[in-house]
Amino acid sequence: MHPRYADVHAAIRSLCEGEDDPIALMATVACELHHSFDHFNWTGFYRVVSPGLLKIGPYQGGHGCLVIPFARGVCGAAAREERTQLVPDVDAFPGHIACASSTRSEIVVPVFDASGALIAVLDVDSDTPDAFDKDDQEALETLMAEVFAKHPA
Ligand code: SME
Repeated sequence: MHPRYADVHAAIRSLCEGEDDPIALMATVACELHHSFDHFNWTGFYRVVSPGLLKIGPYQGGHGCLVIPFARGVCGAAAREERTQLVPDVDAFPGHIACASSTRSEIVVPVFDASGALIAVLDVDSDTPDAFDKDDQEALETLMAEVFAKHPA
């Protein structure tokens, strides 16, 4: 695991201690992650607001599109498959939704609550090609479980 993740996990654990509001947790996680890694150029959540539909949640970076059906984009694939999407080249991902023309790679991690229900996806975009790897996937999946799977939405 990238050593920076250990520091970020510790900071988020401390900041979120005792908090169970999902929006407050998402805002804190997005802020801490975004400001901890220079290559995280957009960091935020899309929330499951109805069956098959995601809507934007707390994020850091340029404006993000407001609504994403599960049928579309990298976020939709992560929500539909309930599986992390590791995208080294967004131009090679069929149906990628480009909120910024500068985005080159992306990782999207499903977020589950304590009951195991999908409540959101965490989306991280980078202007750096192939910026994310299995270590990022493992660290972000662990962080999502630690923060959100303790608190039913
Ligand atoms: N790239 C995402 C859309 C969200 S914007 O990047 C913030 C996708 O393809 O689902």
